Amino acid sequence: IDAAEGRGRGKVILYGEHAVVHGFEAVACGLPLGAVARLRPGKTSTFIIEHPGGRFEADGQVLKAARGIVESFGLELEALESSVHLAVPVGAGMGSSAALAVALARAARELSGQGDEARVEEAVARAEAVFHGQASGIDQSAALRGGVFAFRRGAHPGAPPQIEPMQAPALRLVVAQVAPSASTATMVRGVHALARRYPAAITPTFEAIGQVARAGRAALEAGDVQEAGELMNVNQGLLSALGVSIAAIDAACHLARQAGALGAKLTGAGGGGCVVALSPDAEHTRLIRQAWEARDWPCFEFYLEP
Ligand code: PMV
Repeated sequence: IDAAEGRGRGKVILYGEHAVVHGFEAVACGLPLGAVARLRPGKTSTFIIEHPGGRFEADGQVLKAARGIVESFGLELEALESSVHLAVPVGAGMGSSAALAVALARAARELSGQGDEARVEEAVARAEAVFHGQASGIDQSAALRGGVFAFRRGAHPGAPPQIEPMQAPALRLVVAQVAPSASTATMVRGVHALARRYPAAITPTFEAIGQVARAGRAALEAGDVQEAGELMNVNQGLLSALGVSIAAIDAACHLARQAGALGAKLTGAGGGGCVVALSPDAEHTRLIRQAWEARDWPCFEFYLEP
């Protein structure tokens, strides 16, 4: 074949970020949107990335990660015309890098006619290590599989994570990027430092977040979106206790709840980035967006099928 296309999904963490790094359960979902990669053999090597904020020629880390991915399938990046279209914002905690890596790996697999899904996963894991260093792996799982799932990291480094697909009702999610993202590594280090200084307070906070994730999972599996939303609010309070919320995140959560959201919290590493709200219906989705857009925050809407 002379051209190939691959897709990867963005993600939203519904419950459990940060505590997941310390071994507790989290709940995340792969979004219907993410990345679409297109590859074809070319005389001139190009790598264009289009995303909601514009269009640029890939460089640095992206090129390094991309080269590793296509080489896993016996291809050479310099002999390809590559493009990736991203429907989620870059570096906002919505898993754009994992979506890109999965899309590219799937396109490379198709173009080369080599490798299987396991090789796709290995190539993506290596690319994510280039982007993020040691991460929990939750982004990759979402980008590869989609749907709502419970996630727990492996018990020791190198052990595979525990991933359990979940039954969930239809979910209307609204996401706003309320500030530039902070570095995930920096935020994770900050939480580690707090946990070392105040173990008697922070260890139970991690445990409580783990309990919220379990309760949130049970609520979703029972189809109770009201309770699922309320638990997002509890999760947000606990994330504030970890010091990862900021004024814009707090404001976005309050505005969304006032506009009728069932729940709202930061999603991802915090310190900036995105807020996710669970909306009861299309009319409230509109009201939540209206409240956020009045503050000039870019908004994204997702309907997750049951
Ligand atoms: O902001 P993101 O998408 O990098 O999410 C970070 C989630 C953390 O739990 C803070 C880190 C991790 O590796 O799970």
